Amino acid sequence: MRIRDARPEDAAAIAAIYNDAVVHTTAVWNDDPVDVAEREAWAADRQATGLPVLVAVDDLDQAIGYASYGPWRPHDGYRHTVEHSVYVRGDQRGGGIGRALMEVLLARARKAGVHVMVAGIEAANTGSIALHERLGFAEVGRLPQVGAKFGRWLDLVFLQLTLDDAPAPGGGIPSSPRQENA
Ligand SMILES: CC(C)(COP(=O)(O)OP(=O)(O)OC[C@H]1O[C@@H](n2cnc3c(N)ncnc32)[C@H](O)[C@@H]1OP(=O)(O)O)[C@@H](O)C(=O)NCCC(=O)NCCS
Repeated sequence: MRIRDARPEDAAAIAAIYNDAVVHTTAVWNDDPVDVAEREAWAADRQATGLPVLVAVDDLDQAIGYASYGPWRPHDGYRHTVEHSVYVRGDQRGGGIGRALMEVLLARARKAGVHVMVAGIEAANTGSIALHERLGFAEVGRLPQVGAKFGRWLDLVFLQLTLDDAPAPGGGIPSSPRQENA
């Protein structure tokens, strides 16, 4: 098994892994499977802006897992924080692939100067919580019943890993503050 950047031809395998999680798990809180073109466009959009989309591949160069990160929230002040996802094909779990993907993803994030990585995980997903805790992520928040799937409420657990001890960046505040509340 090795890890490399995703290519357009990986989209079918990525879609199959993603759709299996959509249909069978609470790892992703979407109800409908996507087509290959959607995953290809998703990966291309991310990579075009310098965001990593990694795949773990087997000896035949078939993707058996993938991991990526993107913006956590769409506001300027969150630009140093990302949220990631990691998925391993059902028949390949428990063999170290998730950890290997995360280790490369974390290295990429550090190289890119990301300050904080956030994982939002369904509270009953003990495998994913265990993986993240092994990597040094710590629980920082728990939101009861913010999701619903398979006829039940889902609790969301946030775990985070602070990647560096960089001082807070300056700037970003307008020199003449808006007067919205005046
Ligand atoms: C969560 C997931 C990515 C983990 O990947 P994986 O390849 O199965 O995990 P690994 O074999 O690399 O295990 C990594 C560590 O987590 C631990 N771990 C993984 N699954 C576990 C489980 N079900 N219970 C307890 N510990 C577990 C392992 O013991 C291992 O610890 P170690 O490295 O110290 O030995 C994978 O199970 C998966 O794709 N699940 C479905 C989708 C999903 O939940 N994605 C995450 C959404 S937030």
